[in-house]
Amino acid sequence: MIIAIASDHAGFELKGAIKSHFPEHEFQDYGTYSVDAMDYPDTALPAARAVAEGKAERGILICGTGIGMSIVANKIKGIRAAVCMNADLARLSRMHNDANVLCLAGRFIAVHYALVIVNTWLTTSFEGGRHQIRVDKIKEIEGERQ
Ligand code: RB5
Repeated sequence: MIIAIASDHAGFELKGAIKSHFPEHEFQDYGTYSVDAMDYPDTALPAARAVAEGKAERGILICGTGIGMSIVANKIKGIRAAVCMNADLARLSRMHNDANVLCLAGRFIAVHYALVIVNTWLTTSFEGGRHQIRVDKIKEIEGERQ
């Protein structure tokens, strides 16, 4: 799978761990590239756009809380970004919401557990059915009904 990945300084370490833990996936890295303080919208935006434009199938965004990244990503039409603090939320964000961007809290989750969350999120399918109706309503709000 081609995955757009991005972080700010608070998510830099976890971004590296995710990239090296999943060699079966191709990561497009939109930065940041050091622990120097930077502004999360600057990396969240191009990564989210890559997913919205179909250049990547999914996105993973990491900042201190995951919240700033999710706020930015959800401004982009076609993005359904979810902050997931555990593997159950990651699974449900895929099954029920067809989340195409996973946002992680680099300052609040241990690296080994974040990798479990990512693995769960990457391997869980959307359930469709009644959930498709709800996702379609989100698309209707965005004006991109298909
Ligand atoms: C950076 O200090 C922090 O504000 C950022 O990583 C993120 O948590 C914002 O939502």
